[in-house]
Parts: sequence; C-alpha cells; structure tokens
Amino acid sequence: MPPDVAAAAHGIHCNFVREIIMQHCPSTVSEKPIVLTGDRPTGPLHLGHYVGSLRTRLRLQEDYRQFVLIADLQALTDNAENPSKVTGNVLAVAMDYLAVGIDPTKTTICIQSQIPELAELSMYLLNLVTVARLERNPTVKEEIHQRGFERTIPAGFLIYPVSQAADITAFKARYVPVGEDQLPMIEQTNELVRSFNRSYGDVLVEAEAILSRVGRLPGIDGKTKMSKSLGNTIPLSAEPDEIHRAVERMYTDPGHVRVSDPGKVEGNVVFTYLEAFEEDTLLVDELKTHYRRGGLGDRALKQMLEARLQEMLAPIRAYRHQLAQNPGQIIDIVREGTEVARQIAAGTLAEVRRALGLNYFCR
Ligand code: TRP
Repeated sequence: MPPDVAAAAHGIHCNFVREIIMQHCPSTVSEKPIVLTGDRPTGPLHLGHYVGSLRTRLRLQEDYRQFVLIADLQALTDNAENPSKVTGNVLAVAMDYLAVGIDPTKTTICIQSQIPELAELSMYLLNLVTVARLERNPTVKEEIHQRGFERTIPAGFLIYPVSQAADITAFKARYVPVGEDQLPMIEQTNELVRSFNRSYGDVLVEAEAILSRVGRLPGIDGKTKMSKSLGNTIPLSAEPDEIHRAVERMYTDPGHVRVSDPGKVEGNVVFTYLEAFEEDTLLVDELKTHYRRGGLGDRALKQMLEARLQEMLAPIRAYRHQLAQNPGQIIDIVREGTEVARQIAAGTLAEVRRALGLNYFCR
C-alpha cells in the first residue's frame, strides 16, 4: 500500500476509534451511574449467589446502567486443565440470570474472554502492584489455602484480583454489588485506580461495594460457604425433590434431640436460611424464641423453610425451563450484550493507551 494511502487508512481508523469513544465513553453513554459485577461460570448459580448479589442486581437494574460479566477468564485461573468445566457453564449461568429476572433490556450480560480489552488492561495494571501485595489479599489467601495450592499456585490465579480490577475499571463502574468475601477485591481495585491515575493522569474511577442485607450464606452442612465443589449448595434450578432432600440434610442443633428440648439458633442453618429468605421477620423472631424455649421440632421448622424455598424457586425454575427451549435466543442476548460491552471497554482502553503514550498511530 502506498504510504499516503496507508496514512489515510490510519486516519480513518483513528477517526473511527475516536467516534466510538465519543459514542460509548461511559461518562457520555448515559447519565446513570454504572454498576458492574460478575460470576465465575464453574457451575449453575445457587442460593448463595442469589443472597450475595443477584437479589441486589434485580433492584439496581431499575436505576443504574448495569453490566453483568460472566467471568470465564477468571474461572480458568484454577481450572486450566479442565476448560470445558468453564466453557460448558457459560450459557447455564446466562440462563440463570434471565430466570431470576435479570432483564437484558436493562442489564448488559457479557462474556469476559470475548472482551480482549480486559486482558490488555490487566497487563497495564499488573505493573502497579507487587507480588507481596497480591499475596496479602485475604480472599486469595483463603482460596489458595482451600485449594491446597500454597506455593504451587498458578500465577494467573494469584493475579486474578488485578484482572477483576480491570473488569471493574474498564467499564468505569461506580458500584459493585457483591458478597462480603469480595471486599478485598474492591479495595485492591481502588489502590490500582489511585496508582494508575497518579502515574498517568485521571482516567480510571474508584468503585464502591454494595453489600447485601444478609451476609455469606453457609452451605447446607453449616460448615463452610456454599460451593458447588463441596456439594453443599441448592442450585437456583433445583427440582422440588432436590430442594426437599437438601432441607432434610440441613445442619441444625445436634443437641436438640427431643422436640421439647431447648434448641440453639446460632449456627443453625435452618434459621440462617429463614433469615435470608423469609420476609416475615416477626415470624422468624417468634420461631427463634419458641425454638430456644423448646417445643419446636426440627421437622416442623424444616417444613416451613422448605415451603418458602419451594415457593421462591418454582417460578424461577419454570421460567428457566421455558428459556431452555430456545438456547439460540440466549446466545443472541449474550452476543449482543458482549458487543455493547466491548465497545465501552474499547473506549476506556483508548483513553488508557493515550494516557500511557501507547497511542503511537493515533496521535
Ligand atoms: N470474583 C467474583 C466471584 O468469584 C467474580 C467476578 C469477576 C467479579 N469479575 C468481577 C465480581 C467483577 C465483581 C466485579 O464471584
């Protein structure tokens, strides 16, 4: 190509990029503050996701510009040898979102790996954090321990908080609805934002967590947090008999042998779940008093919880069955969402490159 033609082509390309920035720069795309959150697609979503963040998202999508990211890159950081565990769950997670009421006309659903700008931003941010700081991240520390990694931790896993910071900042998200286990991620994100802006100029935006009313939901065994790999979850798509069996297996107070015995409410999973899902808080308080006094049996208590969960999950399951009839529609929703999201991230990345002086061909 003759040099002048090449230069003209570059000019067109740069104008095109500028146009995208003008059209999609988050600060101009809408007046509404931006919310971003995500989930690792390592299995179907469960009640822990619902309590920790999905419920909040349903509320937020009414008043904010919301993005929900299916974090497949992040999920690969500890599933490298088994990518199909990740890729095979992406559409199931999208379906779960839609089934609980995430509305694609209000919330943009997108796939992390299909937005390469997020990986690029991670590379720039990685230079602004030390290995020592990454090793101090409490969430990562706990996960390393849980997975028995210790020093054999994949480097990608150690740095996933930086990739998460890239997710949040590429969209210039102001709010991130998450469970409290994710607070260290937001803190680390904001450190990176401050460091980036100090070094290169004000481009990125600090974010704030929006925590749910209820803290972390324990697994039905009561010991740990809900996690698919521990087999102690109730998926949002659970069939009625699966819900029944899960409630039956739920950990209560082992000292509560006879109905007439006084029982313990603290650490009793049935009560934790009632607190999370029963809207009638007066009723829950009465049940607690009765249980502590004695005379309220586990069976009656579990029946009440089961009825509540069945009632709550029935419409979600029904809608999910309906959605599953037409997977093409789900793919379209996620593809379109990802395209929109990618343009926004590209706008931020154009600013980031310019701030770093990496805009060699678009001066
Ligand atoms: N770390 C989150 C989880 O394990 C998933 C996630 C990825 C995320 N990117 C994000 C959450 C950005 C909030 C914002 O559930």
